[in-house]
Amino acid sequence: MELLINNGTIVNANNTSVANVLCRDNKIVGIGDLSTANTSVDRIIDATDCYVIPGGIDPHVHMHLPSSAGFSSDDFYSGSKAALFGGTTSIIDFVTPRKGESLQDAILKRTKESQNCLTNYSFHVSPIEWRDTIENEIDNCISKGLRSFKVYMAYKDTIGLDDEVLLKVMKTVGNAGGMVTVHCELGDEIEILRNKFASVNCLIPEFHSLSRPSEVEAKAVEKAINFAKEAQCPIYIVHVSTKESLVYIREAQKNGQKVYAETCPQYLLLDDSKYIGDFENTGPFVMSPPLRKKEDIDALWEAVSDGTIQTVGTDHCPFNFKQKETGRDDFRKIPNGAGGVENRLALLYTYGVLKDKISLNQFVDLTSTNVAKIFGLYPEKGIIEVGSDADLVIWNPKIENIISASNHHQNCDINIYEGIKTIGSPRFVIQSGRVVVENGLMISTPSKGQLLVRR
Ligand code: URP
Ligand code: ZN
Repeated sequence: MELLINNGTIVNANNTSVANVLCRDNKIVGIGDLSTANTSVDRIIDATDCYVIPGGIDPHVHMHLPSSAGFSSDDFYSGSKAALFGGTTSIIDFVTPRKGESLQDAILKRTKESQNCLTNYSFHVSPIEWRDTIENEIDNCISKGLRSFKVYMAYKDTIGLDDEVLLKVMKTVGNAGGMVTVHCELGDEIEILRNKFASVNCLIPEFHSLSRPSEVEAKAVEKAINFAKEAQCPIYIVHVSTKESLVYIREAQKNGQKVYAETCPQYLLLDDSKYIGDFENTGPFVMSPPLRKKEDIDALWEAVSDGTIQTVGTDHCPFNFKQKETGRDDFRKIPNGAGGVENRLALLYTYGVLKDKISLNQFVDLTSTNVAKIFGLYPEKGIIEVGSDADLVIWNPKIENIISASNHHQNCDINIYEGIKTIGSPRFVIQSGRVVVENGLMISTPSKGQLLVRR
């Protein structure tokens, strides 16, 4: 199967050029002024006036995540389908064991759940407790290419780690040559604030936000960085949302420590005014960490632009309104999270590139290249060059859209970006050398996504 993409502007993280791209089966086999004379091209796409970019890689999604209100509303099939419509061809989800369950058993279970994933996929694996065998379990994950381990400093009653275990996990992962990814919020402090608000009947969604203030994130970031330094373990801090966290991250990076940072479109675009109002309008925005202030948004854009933050993931974790409503009378019962896997590229392009906050090359870096580099997928993914995988997006910079739950492909009756205008959208999404999305329609059922090989 050969596909020739003519006259597009190829945008990589480090260069931009107008050239033709030839894909054969699932690989890019030629770039330049290619003649079709000697090839048996099955399809030619004219990409004039479009950008050709590496397929998006979302490093942070939660498909089919169990919660007290049922599973997050996108399973691997619906969520990955929505991802493809938005130009994301690979996702990294999570393996979260039950207490007492080995990482390997949990991986097997999660692998079964992800069988219908249409994008390529991998997992971060979560050690949620310490036991004698955990070092072997972590080594085994790494030998299978699962090299990133997600730890939670919040959610202490379920999956969160106390300090002693956190440090031990970092030491073990550091020794084994892996990376720890950290949800930085101090669980104990949050619990005190939640109980304090609940005791005086302050139970509306605004108190979700007030019980998880910026300092609680920033102090966790400081602690995680210190532990990682002691453990000599690279860390990746997920969903950074506050300006105070950035101070610690910058300082560590300046000192040469391997500290990577991710933020998400919701923290770049929405603020805590979303928590003022009735439940219908505030419940959908309950997520952790919560939305912050305008100053945080400005600081995050600066960090995205100056390279302090390397990636933009989504933390895609949608719940239908009925599920959110289980916490109508008590914010502590609202399932945390919101969707966005479909909207990530269009939002970052519109409000980053078109607002001159980041360049087109940085857009590619943040949504694909850096993710591939940090998580061991580069150069198969994250770059358009001969030998790389033919996961590509032909981006039409002119297509306008108004985001809405009424026409998105995410399986959710809520979209937290409802009514927001975007400019720029995938015209073609190509996965493993096959066109799967064309002009807003899924034209062929993508073959099952591949479990990614990570080095
Ligand atoms: O609110 C969020 N982020 N829900 C998803 C689970 C997590 O904390 O990452
Ligand atoms: Zn998450």
